[in-house]
Amino acid sequence: MKHTFIKAVLESRDFGKDFTVAGWARTRRDSKGGFSFIELNDGSCYKNLQVVAPAALPNYESEIQRITTGVSLKVRGKLVESPAAGQAVELHAESVEVLGTCDPLAYPLSKGRISFERLREVAHLRARTNTFGAVMRIRNVLAMATHRFFQSRGFYYFNAPILTASDCEGAGEMFQVTTLDMNRLPTDKATGKVDFDRDFFGKPVNLTVSGQLEAETYACALGSVYTFGPTFRAEKSNTTRHLSEFWMIEPEIAFADLQDDADVAEDYLRALFTAVLQECPEDLAFCDQRIEKGLLERLTRLSTAKFARITYTEAIELLEKAADTFEFKPSWGCDLQSEHERYLAEKVFNGPVIVMNYPKEIKAFYMRQNDDGKTVAAMDVLLPEVGEIIGGSQREERLDRLEERIRECGMDPASYWWYLDLRRYGSVPHAGFGLGFERMVRFCTGMANIRDVIPFPRAPREVEF
Ligand code: 4AD
Ligand code: MG
Repeated sequence: MKHTFIKAVLESRDFGKDFTVAGWARTRRDSKGGFSFIELNDGSCYKNLQVVAPAALPNYESEIQRITTGVSLKVRGKLVESPAAGQAVELHAESVEVLGTCDPLAYPLSKGRISFERLREVAHLRARTNTFGAVMRIRNVLAMATHRFFQSRGFYYFNAPILTASDCEGAGEMFQVTTLDMNRLPTDKATGKVDFDRDFFGKPVNLTVSGQLEAETYACALGSVYTFGPTFRAEKSNTTRHLSEFWMIEPEIAFADLQDDADVAEDYLRALFTAVLQECPEDLAFCDQRIEKGLLERLTRLSTAKFARITYTEAIELLEKAADTFEFKPSWGCDLQSEHERYLAEKVFNGPVIVMNYPKEIKAFYMRQNDDGKTVAAMDVLLPEVGEIIGGSQREERLDRLEERIRECGMDPASYWWYLDLRRYGSVPHAGFGLGFERMVRFCTGMANIRDVIPFPRAPREVEF
């Protein structure tokens, strides 16, 4: 089936040349003069190709005049300069082959406007709509721009394991993986508890919440690495910014401190904004018009913006001054809520903010302890609209301090033996961060719900497809 993508046909000015295209009909209308006009889309770009099919075609009445939304077609024809406004070219069909029919009464996308909620129920078809086509093409460009950014800086792409026995964030929000028969769990006679010795791996195992700990081991050998893979959180948060399965990009940099870490984060975010602006003008224009007014202006401004940097303590002072505006009153020691993060990025700084040095009690065990005894070298990057987009830190490279903190957090240093080895053998200062890929796609498309920027969202009680 040799065919040309519609994107390339629309860019071509080879009038008179033969092209074969294949795609799905969006609409069809018939003119009195004996022509059918079919808007054909193949997903290669936002725009449709107008196919003009003359009544002289042998299957005009039997098939072409029965084409409805969703019917798949292969069309051969000549490229012609279009007399109509709004398009430069059209294809004058010499043959139209119907590949697959599509019952208009049953097809879920037959009707005009369909809510995003309804489209989530037909997530296997929603990529055929303008919105989801645009979102997925923007997602693709963000992924490629991520690889380009890190590769151009000498980072190596590293694949962290998905199955793991450790809990990186220490938050206990893990999905357990087992091959034990849930109806007949083997128990240990002495303790009465489940005998995981009889499980597949001989101990409890879960899906990873973050590839960071493993990435640290490779950074402490190859210098700079980054992961880009799926991560899993069994958080019961039913919000527009949480998923149970999401993709994370986690760079890890040896011989780096918190400021270096923040510098990379800033450059990376600007590189992503620049890439979508340069590579997705049509899809962005659509999102700007139909999804979120002002999106283009915001991305353009942020692509060159300098990020504000403040300490957690300063952030709390700023928030306390506006305490009345919040549902959750801020005070030193509390974790920042989404409403606080957005207030800082939207109202105080009108742009990205990096908040540094959080209280150690609200952050993970691996973060480097500051000399004040109260805070750790953590950073969160906050954006308007989405709040936290990046979480990162300088890592604790001192063996004794790390062991002590693991114990304080109620965990067993013995089970982190390999992680602690990095501090035993040639320990180095190092730092890294994690960017939630779907939060980024949300930010760059203006979509309101994170479930609508990943092909098949997983959230509490949501795992169809
Ligand atoms: O702040 P988090 O939990 O940090 C880590 O996992 C570190 N190990 C990263 C590192 O230093 N290498 O998560 C990082 C980012 C968040 O800032 C957020 O953007 C995203 O991951 N994230 C989620 N995205 C969607 N759904 C969820 N449930 C998310 N939880 C975190
Ligand atoms: Mg975080």
